[in-house]
Amino acid sequence: MKKIRAAITGVAGYVPDYILTNEELSQMVDTTDEWIMTRIGIRERHILKGEGKGTSDMAELAVKELFRKTGTNPDDVDLLIWCGVTPDMAFPSTANIISDKVGVKNAFGYDINAGCSSFLFSLETVAKFIETGSVKKAVLVGAEKMSSIVDYSDRTTCPIFGDGAGAVLIEPTEEDYGLFDSILHVDGSGRKHLFQAAGGSRYPATMETVLRRQHYIYQEGQPVFKAAVSNMGDITLKLMERNGLTKDNLNWLVPHQANLRIIDATGNRIGLPREKIMITIDHYGNTSAATLPLCLWDYESKLHKGDNLVLTTFGAGFTWGAIYIKWAYDSVCDINKQ
Ligand code: UT7
Repeated sequence: MKKIRAAITGVAGYVPDYILTNEELSQMVDTTDEWIMTRIGIRERHILKGEGKGTSDMAELAVKELFRKTGTNPDDVDLLIWCGVTPDMAFPSTANIISDKVGVKNAFGYDINAGCSSFLFSLETVAKFIETGSVKKAVLVGAEKMSSIVDYSDRTTCPIFGDGAGAVLIEPTEEDYGLFDSILHVDGSGRKHLFQAAGGSRYPATMETVLRRQHYIYQEGQPVFKAAVSNMGDITLKLMERNGLTKDNLNWLVPHQANLRIIDATGNRIGLPREKIMITIDHYGNTSAATLPLCLWDYESKLHKGDNLVLTTFGAGFTWGAIYIKWAYDSVCDINKQ
């Protein structure tokens, strides 16, 4: 019997209309376009505005676009997973809310949080369901309203993050496409460098936690930067070596978009030219769990059946990993893409 693999068979995305530029940020905190461009590589990011709007509102639009593009009937979906760090609320799961909004009624689903590695870790989870044959059609959506946890008076973190949603359809294939290999890691001792202190069971929301600004992202940039550079480079090389991938036969590196300098360092470690690296950080910023699917969405028209892709991430936890995919389809021109 041939091995069943999990293949991405469609990609869609959504980013909100409002664009927060470096110029506008420099009127909010003591920063400049030049500092943000040279230290991080972000020109602008999209922000979700509107009372009561949450992550599921962006995810809903991405998933509906995915259904339209792939001709998927929501009744045929068996599994829907939302991943990220900014759920609509603590419970019920954001996956449940999205399922209801997009008309998915015959599926199970839940949320997965692995920091900025959420999409990568979730892809591995979905692949396991597909490989056993128990799931035939899965939707994985990485969506984040990072602006809901960013402190816009903290100049060291507020330029980095943006909002957005990316969704993929995952189906089984007996051909030699799809997910081939993965290496995933966590190291919880890194949690002290990147976290949101309050709002969970240890420090539920009180007047004091709000006044102490503990519902915002806390990040020590330099230790996170160093760990991201070394771990993403190491794990990408290891995955490539054990699958016979080289800078020549690797078609695309799809890295988490946290800092252009981290992306360049990872590319340099494997000797890959910039033309083979998906880069969206300049116009989306760091959208956490949404960075990888938004990369695939932006670059979909350049992808060909059989292309070798390595996806790699690093995030809060610490969490990091790399996944090797053989791309499963030639994209058709989508005239409705924004
Ligand atoms: O996605 C999850 C994983 N997260 C990451 O991978 C993020 C990793 N970290 C980073 O990307 C970088 O560490 C940051 C972008 C967060 C910060 O860049 P950095 O080059 O590490 O800067 P720094 O924190 O060492 O600060 C350098 C200087 C400091 O000034 P002094 O002490 O040298 O006078 C900061 O006060 O830059 C100053 N600075 C700023 N200046 C202008 C910090 N933020 C700003 C700013 N504008 N926005």
